[in-house]
Amino acid sequence: MPHVEKVEGAGFCLGVRRAIEMVERALEEGKVYTLGPVVHNPRVVEELERKGVRVVRDVGEAKDGTLIIPSHGAGPRVYEEKRVKIIDATCPFVMRTKRMAKKLADQGFFVIIFGDSEHTEVKGIIEWIEGKGKAMERTPKEKLPRRIGILSQTTKPLKEFYAFVDEILSSSLGELLEVRIINTICRATRERQEKSLKLAQKSDLMIVIGGKNSANTKNLANLCREIGVETYHIERASEIEPSWIKDKEFIGITAGTSTPEEEVEEVYMKIKNIGEGV
Ligand code: F3S
Repeated sequence: MPHVEKVEGAGFCLGVRRAIEMVERALEEGKVYTLGPVVHNPRVVEELERKGVRVVRDVGEAKDGTLIIPSHGAGPRVYEEKRVKIIDATCPFVMRTKRMAKKLADQGFFVIIFGDSEHTEVKGIIEWIEGKGKAMERTPKEKLPRRIGILSQTTKPLKEFYAFVDEILSSSLGELLEVRIINTICRATRERQEKSLKLAQKSDLMIVIGGKNSANTKNLANLCREIGVETYHIERASEIEPSWIKDKEFIGITAGTSTPEEEVEEVYMKIKNIGEGV
């Protein structure tokens, strides 16, 4: 029977918990829309939809009631909407990155966001700086402006951010006049990554639970794979295959910061039951 261990402190991070509470409070007042999923977890979104929340893709689809800006934030256009009440559930860490990016752009720096240009958080920040920067995950081939500011998407692995900064500096240092580097990776991400890696080092199988659209969950799974541990990224306990468990001695379970504790508990119980041959 394998030993099964959950990552220490699994459950929602501050930003996710805060956003869900804001949606639930708004529901007591009337109709609620969220601009995209309020957090990147299908179970949480489905539960909120059951309570009456409607997920919209564009601000124009919300015609009355309250529109909630999700934990990943949004661009400036949304804040100008007058037909509905706007509640901003942007995580304080995302807000900080946005403020830093704007400050750098206003001071004349070209802002580089180390992150996925298609992710809501990154797209929102790029809109706030009005074209005075770019999101990227690889060192650019083109020549950079002489004054640059480098920030990170809040959920990136710290090691990758440092490697990216290092690459930019070594490839264009002679041409740069001024560089500002701000570590904007949030504490919850850093802690979850450190604890998951520690657990992965003792495990011969890692199960990573969280939305397939959750950047921090995808990064956790990649970190575990990178150290050579067999790793599966799942959203629900029902996805677990008994063949994964066979012949394993130590199984680690971790989860993204938007994964509810109940989901982690269900996965834990399912693995235990398979291991015991139930
Ligand atoms: Fe915020 Fe970090 Fe959670 S950015 S939403 S505290 S993962």
